[in-house]
Amino acid sequence: MRLDKLLSNGLGLGSRTDVKKMIKKGRIRIDGLDSLRPETAVDPFAVSVYVDGVLMRYREFVYLMLNKPQGVISATHDTRHRTVADLVPDEYSHFDVFPVGRLDIDTEGLCLLTNDGALSHKLLSPKNHIEKLYYAEINMPVTESDVKAFRGGIVLDDGYKCMPSELIALGSEKNKVHVKIFEGKFHQVKRMFEAVGKSVVYLKRLKMKNLMLDKALPIGEVRELTEAEIAGLKD
Ligand code: URA
Repeated sequence: MRLDKLLSNGLGLGSRTDVKKMIKKGRIRIDGLDSLRPETAVDPFAVSVYVDGVLMRYREFVYLMLNKPQGVISATHDTRHRTVADLVPDEYSHFDVFPVGRLDIDTEGLCLLTNDGALSHKLLSPKNHIEKLYYAEINMPVTESDVKAFRGGIVLDDGYKCMPSELIALGSEKNKVHVKIFEGKFHQVKRMFEAVGKSVVYLKRLKMKNLMLDKALPIGEVRELTEAEIAGLKD
């Protein structure tokens, strides 16, 4: 990789022009290299790069958990609405992360953001049946017959028969529920409730595969996944 690309894209030190200036000013040092030029070819995994004497860590991918607020769309660019990418702190902007899957504009909760296309593909592939757990509030109590219908596979408005899913009523009022699904059709949870004559008034994603929404992560905030969380998703 060209040195200016590593410094700019790989380490997020600014534009190519910015990093050229840094090289010129002697702010960059690389073990074993005496003279540095922007076009110098370096192995990003093998070199030790110091900026103002501080060792930088190169990594190709980043994995972020966002506690998505309502009113934000699961996209990277939009002319009308704020996007999940707008909530990513500047220090990650050079990674060009994107959301893995979509939550509706009014859905809150767990949103995974990464630039790892292979992992995203694996998690979204319909053949992998990745588990997703939602907390939902429904406009009326759910019944035992709804639970059975979810278990048997709900037929959506377009005729698609969903895979068996789990519906668990929480508390005695039975209008607060957990729903576990293993696929990701457009507006799936809302449409499943519509199919049994009910509507979702609040929806929050709590879990995707092994990855739980961090209860300590405030709405609208982002944190990096731990090594264990990343390994669990890749498993
Ligand atoms: N199902 C929905 O209906 N909406 C979401 O945002 C996610 C799942």
